[in-house]
Order: sequence, then C-alpha cells, then structure tokens
Amino acid sequence: MSGFDFSKRDSFGSRLGVIMAAAGSAVGLGNIWRFPYILGENGGGAFLIVYLIIIFSIGIPVMMSELVIGRRTQRNPVGAFRMLSSRRPWYLVGMMGIVAAFMILAFYTAVAGWTLEYIYQILAGGIKGRSSAELTVMFDTFRTDSLRPALWFSVFLLATAGIVLGGVRKGIEKSTKVLMPLLFILLIFMCIKALTLPGAGKGVEFLFRPDFSKITGTTVLMALGQAFFSLSIGMGTLITYGSYIPKDNNLAGTAVQVSMIDLLIAVLAGLAIFPAVFAFGISPASGEALTFIVLPGIFQQMTGGMIFAFIFFFLLAIAALTSTISVLEVIVAYFSEQLNLSRRTAIIIATASMFILGIAASLSWGVMKGVTLFGLNIFDLFNYTTANILLPIGGLLIVAFLGWFFPGKSVRDELSNDGSLKIRYYSLYRFIIRFIAPVAIALVFLNGLGLLAF
Ligand code: TRP
Repeated sequence: MSGFDFSKRDSFGSRLGVIMAAAGSAVGLGNIWRFPYILGENGGGAFLIVYLIIIFSIGIPVMMSELVIGRRTQRNPVGAFRMLSSRRPWYLVGMMGIVAAFMILAFYTAVAGWTLEYIYQILAGGIKGRSSAELTVMFDTFRTDSLRPALWFSVFLLATAGIVLGGVRKGIEKSTKVLMPLLFILLIFMCIKALTLPGAGKGVEFLFRPDFSKITGTTVLMALGQAFFSLSIGMGTLITYGSYIPKDNNLAGTAVQVSMIDLLIAVLAGLAIFPAVFAFGISPASGEALTFIVLPGIFQQMTGGMIFAFIFFFLLAIAALTSTISVLEVIVAYFSEQLNLSRRTAIIIATASMFILGIAASLSWGVMKGVTLFGLNIFDLFNYTTANILLPIGGLLIVAFLGWFFPGKSVRDELSNDGSLKIRYYSLYRFIIRFIAPVAIALVFLNGLGLLAF
C-alpha cells in the first residue's frame, strides 16, 4: 500500500539516548508551565494525590503499551494499527492521534514562543526590578499583542522543523542528552531559593496537604488529562518513539524511568512555584499566566538573578523544543511512511499547515480573542480538548486494543524481549490494561464531563 522503504528507518543509538529522548518528550512545558497552573486551579494537594494515583495506575501502563505497539510494528501510529489490525478500523486511533498532534503543536508552540519573548525581555532589561503586579501587566500586554506572540511562535516552529529535519539520532537524541540534566540542576536551585522566601511554608502546605473535600469529578478529569499530557501519552508520540527503540531495550524499565523523571520535574516545578506564589501574594489560580509571573519574581530575589533567569528560560525553551520535536515527528512519520513522501516534503507540508493553526492559537488573546467555542478561545479549546478528551480516549483505545484484541503472547514477547527478561509484573500489567485502565478512564471521563454523575 505504501511504497515507503521501511528498512531505511532511523533509530535511537543507546539506552541513555532512548531515555533522554523519551524523557525529553515528556518533560517540557507540561511540567513547568501546565502542571503548576492546573494544580493551582484544582485544589492543590488534593490534585497532587489524584495525579500520583493516575500516573502509577494508568499512566505507566499506557506508556508501556504505546512502546510495545511502536517497537513491535516499527511504524508510525497509523501504520502501526493498520499492520496489527488490517480488517478493523483501529487505524482511526492513529488518525485521531495525528489530529491531536496538530492541535497540541499549535498551542504548545505558542507557549514555547512565550519563553522566547521572556528571553528577549531579560536581555533587553525589561524584567529586572519589576514587581509581581508589573510582571502581570507585562505578561498581559504581551499576550494581547497582535503580532509578537505569532512572531515568536513562528521562530519556535521553524526551530522545531529544523531539528526534525536533522533526523532522529543526530537531531533529537544528541541535543537532549546534555541539556536535560542542566535544566534539572537549575530547577533545584530555584526550589531552594523559593523555599527560603518568607512565607514559603504556605506554598508547601498548598502543594502537599490534601484537602479531600476539593476532589470533584472535574478535578479527577483535569488530573487525568494533565497526566496524559505530561507523559506524552494517548496520541502516539510514544508509539512513534517506541518504533525507534532498539530490540534489546527493556520497555517496562524505560516507561517507569521516564515517568519518574517526568513526575520529579513536575513536583520540583511545584516546589519552586507555590512557595513563591504565597510569598508574593499571587493567586494560585492565575491560570496560564502563573509560571510566567512567578518565575521572574523568584529571579528578582536572587543575586545575579537575571543571569539565572536567562539560563532558566533558555533551558525551558530547550525542554519545550525536545517536546515539540516529538509531536512534529509523529506527523512527519505518518506523512512520510503512509503517504510515501520524503521526510523533507513531509516536514514542509506539516510545518506550513502548522503556521495557520498556530498563529491563530498564539493570537487567542489578541486579534483572535473574539473567536470562541463553549466560552473557550482557540488556545484554550486546543489545550482543553486535547488533554482532557483526545488523549484519554486515545489512551483508552490503545490499552483496550492491546488487552483485548491483540495476542497476549506478542505483548509478552515484546516486554520480555522474546523471553530474555523476567516480567514478573506481567499479570498485573495485563489486568490493568484489560480492566482497570479502560474502566477508570471511561468513568473519569464521563463523570468529569458531567455525562455521568456519582
Ligand atoms: N509531554 C510534553 C510536556 O509535558 C508535551 C508533549 C510532547 C505531549 N508530546 C506529547 C503531550 C504528546 C501530549 C501528547 O511538555
């Protein structure tokens, strides 16, 4: 059907390379920008507990399942499902992933563009000495501008396309190995600074002391959506990356390690942000602006703060880049393998169409402000719909497929590398992907949307 030469597919080189590329995809704005503001809007510590439960009981098994499908088939998400089930329309799960990829890339790259604006502002001296109130105004002025957000979006999109053009091993793997650990170290510095601010204790309490009365159907749905978003699961990113993973890699081990790195970075971001939120008297429910107001505020308190601010936003941009490339890679792998286009042509088509969607998303508070659906602007619509609807449905279908419609022996072979690894967890895993995960996702989903109340 497709004339693509599958023997020419690229792959990741080393075990560390696999972890870094997958963690590079998972760790990004989802951890440092999205996690804190969603947690801030949804009950703090109560949200964190629900989030933890979801990561362990649903997130890791879904991630393992995506890696299994990818490595088994050596295909993009659409090709993978076509190969595993040629008679039934499972490939539509892959298609849904492609649609989600376009929507995520649009708003996510817009936020990544915000980091570039901040790097620019730091260099231009626009941040130094500003109070929280001034930083809030600055953020709003920027976000409502009719040009700048689109401009920075475009710069970031081109950078993403450039790296994807460089290919999997040279482009993606190489850059992440060095920069990810650096981000981690800097984040620890920021936690220490935030925790020593006067009044920091309240933030720690907000993050870690659960108020169970705050857990509602919406909280749980938001936690589910955030977990899927942060782990990069539910749309085929990890099917695609799984397809580049060498045959001797321990997929379960990789899934656990990547998930733990991702969780750690999110909690560290929370520990850097919430103490400062309370110390500066900002509302934890400040929405998308939260990280962009609070972090510059912390840097004001440090000696040499603007140097640290520069390094931090630079690394945050890099973390975002290792995530955007993983999303673009899904679209490119699909275009090139299923439609038999060259990688270059695939990248050009994908990027060109992304310009239209992403510019619209990036101007959601500016000239596109009037365009809304269900009260959400384009940005929020993409943000909400992908995380809380498309990814959970994708995840549900992925585990249901592996659990019910795919020979258990193949799953076993893939997880145990044809019997060379012990997989004592297998019966638990199988039970989760057949029963727990699909039922839990379905209930959370229906309840969170108010379609089923309990
Ligand atoms: N997980 C990334 C982050 O938290 C974003 C991301 C990359 C993503 N690939 C994805 C989200 C696939 C959902 C699906 O920053």
